[in-house]
Amino acid sequence: MVKINLGGCNPFVKDADYKEYLKKAFDAFDTLQAENGAGNDFLGWKDLPVNTPESMIKACEDIRDDWKARGVNLVVVLGIGGSYLGARCALEALSHQFLPKKDAPRIVFAGNNMSEDYLAELMDLMALCNTACIVISKSGTTTETAVAFRLVKEYLDKTYSDSANRIVAVTDAKRGALKTLSTQEGYRTFVIPDNVGGRFSVLTPVGLLPILVAGFDVRAMLRGAADTRAKMFEKSEDNPAIQYAAMRNLLYSKLGKRVEVLVSFDPRLQYLGEWWKQLYGESEGKEGKGIFPASVIFTTDLHSMGQFIQEGERVMFETTVTVENAKRSLTIGTDAQNLDQLNFLAGKHVEYCNRMAQLGTKLAHIDGGVPQLELCIEKVDEYNLGAIFYFFEFACGVSAYELGINPFNQPGVEAYKKNMFALLDKPGYEAQSEEIRKRL
Ligand code: PA5
Repeated sequence: MVKINLGGCNPFVKDADYKEYLKKAFDAFDTLQAENGAGNDFLGWKDLPVNTPESMIKACEDIRDDWKARGVNLVVVLGIGGSYLGARCALEALSHQFLPKKDAPRIVFAGNNMSEDYLAELMDLMALCNTACIVISKSGTTTETAVAFRLVKEYLDKTYSDSANRIVAVTDAKRGALKTLSTQEGYRTFVIPDNVGGRFSVLTPVGLLPILVAGFDVRAMLRGAADTRAKMFEKSEDNPAIQYAAMRNLLYSKLGKRVEVLVSFDPRLQYLGEWWKQLYGESEGKEGKGIFPASVIFTTDLHSMGQFIQEGERVMFETTVTVENAKRSLTIGTDAQNLDQLNFLAGKHVEYCNRMAQLGTKLAHIDGGVPQLELCIEKVDEYNLGAIFYFFEFACGVSAYELGINPFNQPGVEAYKKNMFALLDKPGYEAQSEEIRKRL
């Protein structure tokens, strides 16, 4: 379960203001729950933890087992934005940081950029491995993913006689080039429901298939999300999503805090920051409004971004995701000579030092004028990741409605695509191609 601690905002916030924003958060909660707000045709994510059919998970297991039987040791996951960040976040968080997982293929991500070198190096890796591919695109037309897929498909078709069995597509039920291609080639496919947007899709096959194929327990993830959903649905001052939405809107609107920095003291959660940035950035950054989402890993980034956070432009607040329990135990030894002068830490757990660093940072940043929110999970496992995914999604809906924004569209993402298509001479963009070249 996700717990919240707003104590680090007390020095900055008046009680009456918090009550005002809490009331607004309750109104936003009502809108989300009555499903009568803007974008209400994209609320399918709310029920995913309780209505994901066991048959879908079994179908994912069939693919995992089939690829195991074919000796697959590399799975390339192609997708961008909401079509890869959730799975990547889970895999970065759950995997051993240095060793490969036994009895599971290596998972790598592509289709989220168009770097020629990146894709050429992916080809180098595929040439050394026994490869399969999961291609994920709700629209089925996203250029970055489609370009990577064309290259990967060409390689698989050339290399394996069973290539159609080595490709699984996750896409729309009916629309899009990827759907057409999958039907024609006979790929196994999974559907992204119409009413679930990309950045809210981690608990659909978009996230669940790669996470399961990588050897992790998606049932536990859905359980964590379902338990959190029950808590999120309570209209109460104790609901951490309502508290989070109220406080971040207050800090933004009343105190001019324009930047929220998601902090973790555990590098395994780096991609939680990446996933969260898309969720909040794409959901709230519209109509000239929105909190700019940034993320850091401490103590690492205290040696790069720490100076700015402590003393730079006073526009930010921090939300720290704290992990209560380390999985492993490691204590610092004694050294007879103590030449490194670290004997004062002898016998202490590394995690204890990390906690003291966290506490020291919190107090220093409060002194520096940076309000502190804290979200707490028990440990980094599938259950707690499901919990925090659902927490952030629900809180995003409440928070964006409180800000007066439709959280479930992303009209601004089209602007760069139109220019890119014009510059790439995509058929249908002839007039724009001529216009845009005059600007170069
Ligand atoms: O949240 C969103 O909808 C987007 O970020 C999409 O996930 C992203 O653009 C990828 O789109 P698609 O899955 O259609 O390839």
